[in-house]
This record gives sequence, C-alpha cells and structure tokens, in this order.
Amino acid sequence: MCGIVGYIGEQDATPIILNGLKRLEYRGYDSAGLAVMQDGKIEIRREAGKLSKLASLIENQPVSGKMGIGHTRWATHGEPSARNAHPHLSSNGDFVVVHNGIVENFLELKEELSAEGVIFRSDTDTETIVHLVERYYSSSSGLVEASRKALKQLKGAHGIVIMSSREPDKIIAARIGNAGGVVIGFGDSEMFIASDIPAILEHTRRVIFLESGQMAIVTQHNVQVQTLNGETILPQIHTISWDPVAAEKGEYRHFMQKEIHEQVRSLTDTLAGRVDFDEGRIHLDTLNLTAEKARKIEKIIVTACGTAAHAGMVGKVLIERIAKIPVEVDIASEFRYRDPLVNPNTVVLAISQSGETADTLAAMEEARKKGAMLWSIVNAIGSQAMRLADGCISMQVGPEIGVASTKAFTAPLVDLYMLAVLLGDLRGELSATERKRLVADLSLIPDLAGKCLDREEEVKKVAYALKDTHNALYLGRGINMPIAYEGALKLKEISYIHAEAYPAGEMKHGPIALVDKNMPVIAITPRDPWYDKMISQVEQVKARGGIVVVVATDGDEKARELADYVLWIPETPWLLSPVITVIPLQILAYHIATLRGLDVDQPRNLAKSVTVE
Ligand code: F6R
Repeated sequence: MCGIVGYIGEQDATPIILNGLKRLEYRGYDSAGLAVMQDGKIEIRREAGKLSKLASLIENQPVSGKMGIGHTRWATHGEPSARNAHPHLSSNGDFVVVHNGIVENFLELKEELSAEGVIFRSDTDTETIVHLVERYYSSSSGLVEASRKALKQLKGAHGIVIMSSREPDKIIAARIGNAGGVVIGFGDSEMFIASDIPAILEHTRRVIFLESGQMAIVTQHNVQVQTLNGETILPQIHTISWDPVAAEKGEYRHFMQKEIHEQVRSLTDTLAGRVDFDEGRIHLDTLNLTAEKARKIEKIIVTACGTAAHAGMVGKVLIERIAKIPVEVDIASEFRYRDPLVNPNTVVLAISQSGETADTLAAMEEARKKGAMLWSIVNAIGSQAMRLADGCISMQVGPEIGVASTKAFTAPLVDLYMLAVLLGDLRGELSATERKRLVADLSLIPDLAGKCLDREEEVKKVAYALKDTHNALYLGRGINMPIAYEGALKLKEISYIHAEAYPAGEMKHGPIALVDKNMPVIAITPRDPWYDKMISQVEQVKARGGIVVVVATDGDEKARELADYVLWIPETPWLLSPVITVIPLQILAYHIATLRGLDVDQPRNLAKSVTVE
C-alpha cells in the first residue's frame, strides 16, 4: 500500500515524480504529495483525492528542482486529507519524509516528542519519523547517522524515504520488515527510488532491491547500501525484462480490461521454457526438485490471500488428483496465527501477485520457523515472497496494475497444473501416456483463452442485463468451485454489488432460501466431472424462479434450454477448465462495473498491495 517515488539527478524532479506516482496510483489513491528541493529549500505540494488533483495544484503552484520525493497514500492513521498526505516536514522545515507502513509505537513516540515541545501538524504515524530525524541531526555526524538513529526507533514494517535541505546531495531510502519493497534504479547521472518497479521502468531497467533492515544512501551517481548498524552491503544489480509499454493502458479504457486481454500472451509466457511438448515433460528448474525430494513431501499447504487463495483452491484439486499429495489451503492471515501443524516434510507454498502482502509474508516466516520447505509463486520480480522462498515459480505476466487481479490469477493456475504434473511424474504417480496427455493439453490454453476474449461483446450483453442487480449468487463444484469464489470477488470488489459464492452442493443447506426473481444465480457448468450435479442444481434454482446465468461449453443444449443467459466457453480439458471458465466472469464483472460508471482500476477502499495487516 502507498506508493513512493524519489529522484536525484540533472532533470526536473517534479514531472518524473508525478509520472512515477501515476504508475503507482494503484497502490493507494486517497491523497498524494511531493517535496522538491527548490533553491536549497524543501517545497511541498499535497492534495487530498486522486493524483490528478495534485497535478492541478502543481500547475497552479509550480515547483521544480533536481531532487525530490513523492507519495500516493492509502490511509492507515489519519483520515485522507491534504493535511495527512505525505510528505511530512520537520518542525524546522529542513527534513522531509515519505513512508509506507505503520509505525506501531507511534503513540509512544508522539508522546515523547510532544513532551519535548514538538507540535504535530498531522494525525499520521509517519510524522514521528521526520521529527525523530530532526531530533537526532544535531547530535549526529550527518543525515545518514540521524536517519539511522531514527529508523532504529521504529517498530513495525516500513519503506521510508528521507530528504534534507541540510545535505541536498543525497536521499536516504530504507526498508524495515515486510511493508513493501524499496527499489533503486540506476540512470545516467541520475538515480531513481520507488516502492515498485513500474514507477521507474521508463527510465531504467537496472535496479537493486533493499532487503529488510537495510538503508541506502542515494546520490546522483551512486548508491551505498548499509545495514541499520552501519555495515556496508554489496547489493546485487538486477536487470528487469519487463517492457515499459506493459505498464501503459494503451488502447484500452482501463488497466483491468487490458490485463484481461493480455491473458493469451501471459499464458503463453507462463508455458515458455517450462514445457517440453516433444518429450511431454515439465521443467520448473527454480524449485530444484529431484525424485527423492518430491517423494519426501507428505503434505502441501497453500497459503495466500484473496484471489491468490482462490488459485490455491484450484491447486488443491490439481495436486491431489495428479500428484496424489494431500493439500490444504490456508488463508495467510489465519495460518500465521494458528500455530499450524508443519514439519520438514511439509511444503508451504505461498502465492502472491505482489509478493508483498503482509499476511502472506508473515505466513511464510511462520512456515520457515517451523522448518517447512518454503516455495512461492510470485509475480513481482525481486519481491520479498520471491526471495524468502527456497524455490520460486515466477508468474511471467508482467506488471499487473488494475486492482482487481486477472492475469495474475490465470497464470498461477497453469503454474499449479505444471507443478502437479512435475510432482506426479517425480513421485511415479503418472504413466508416460498420462503425463504426455496432461502436458499436451497445456498447448491448447492460450488459444482457448483467446476464444473467450473474442466473445467480449456477448458477455457485455449479459452485463447490461445484470447491471442493476443488488445481489448475486455464484455456484460451482469441484475444480470450478473456486471459480465461483473468484467470480463473486471480482464482481463485489469493482461493482460494489453484494455477491456470494457457494459450493453448489451447499445450496440445499441454506442459501437456496435466497433465490427469487431478484437474485441472479451465476452457475459454472463446464463439461467437467461435476457437470450433471451442477445441472441439477441449476434446475432447482430455476424451479424457484431465479434468474440463471451459466458458464457453459459450446454446444451444450441442456444449458441453453435451462439458463436465461449463457456465457459460452470453448471445449477445454477439465483439469485446465478453471483457466477458461474464469475469463467470462472477469469480463462480466468488468462490464457491469463500467456500466455502473465506476472506477474499475481504483475501486473504493482497496489497494493493490496490502502491505499492512
Ligand atoms: C482481488 C485481489 C486481491 C489479492 C490479494 C492478495 O482481485 O487482487 O484479493 O489477490 O490482496 O494479493 P497478492 O496476490 O499480491 O498477495
């Protein structure tokens, strides 16, 4: 949550920071601000609301300079307002800070600082940081030491950037704990700082990532990384392969729509280099799996949040069916506090688009403490979830900007399928014929996804029919039961329509009481082993006057007869069907939300990376 950008170099920092913040607005969008070093003085502009408001303010009150820091906020302490927007300035106006995270001991620190005479000008926890830097500056050798002393006082997890007019040749960036990343980019006589790669991708692809407990002293030509105890660290420089255009909306109205349409490409990239179609084999080299290691696995626990957890639920069916390993799916915020039963023969597999989700990272740490093997499936390159794991499958979908996750849902479904086949193969659970068939089926997926995308206009008509509903019920069974959850989540998060999901077999145990002519029921009924059961469920809904929308396979006459609306999908091997059945539901949610005139990419109260608890 919260986006941070910093710049030091020869160019005007203001447009660079504003542009960078625009790329990060998905991380928080309730207020924004920047601070620029102008003629040796820190100048601040802050505004409540979206970034466009800050841009207008700056048009009216221009500010420019060769270094600066900026922030887009997702409020934790203090209401969203200009007063609480970052950056926050010290009392003497010489120090300024932007921050991502929560200062857990801020009440204590605030009391201490207030007793020393500090007057707080915001309700934020962040303000304590800048007053601490000011407090320590007079008794330190300079900004680096003062910042270090201040950082050591903070409890909780943070990404922090500090600038001072006393030393206008450097910016300090720091990371403590898992409150989101800090990435530093190398330019030509200029350096960039950001909380996430898209903010600086148009300027550089050469970056370093700060680890927890590290601070960076960033000057125009260089960066020096130290621990909070002052020991120097030699950081590893990474080259990012993402295409800067991938972080642009292009011809699409919203990032979400663009990302839905990118799925042919992202699914193709997901397979690239990992599937040997000639030999019928899967290669997930980053896991370093051997037959011996695979045979030792007694249990897999998938841990994740939200959409990523729904992917894990599909993974359970795949891994249990194909590799015959018991799988549990545990919501990360539960796993981390439940004292879960884990041993060295348990694999804990975390799934995360951002690789920064606080609960998922805490769950990984818990698993590590308990001695489990730790794997992850992650999109954001260099993120903590990628680095914490013993082995990581990288999602290969490029930046996902829309707050509602789409392409970062279908890719891990395919990753989990490949993992299941690899484990099944290594454990001797698959005959050569079975293995080859399962691998061959993967080749169909990008094309089948493309066929769903070609039907956007048909789905839009159904969206038109449903746009004014107040409630919706999503039903699925077996491998497509998690798709009911995912379809409902997509609808509720961007259209604010109340949507519930159930395993269809549960209908008769309560939820069927909800069904009447005002309750659309969206049933996922592809030709999978649960097809007959699903159809009989749909019949029961129909008998009670419900409006029925089904996701059904081309040519399914039964579904056509029964349903009020059909979202058609092409014939798909059932173990891969969730990759395809979810696509019309993503499109449906997208169009319902746009028909309701809502901001699809930045839905209310949400942020893309949930780096706080
Ligand atoms: C929903 C959505 C969220 C995320 C969840 C986990 O569309 O995007 O439910 O899936 O916050 O995020 P990551 O995958 O970044 O850990």
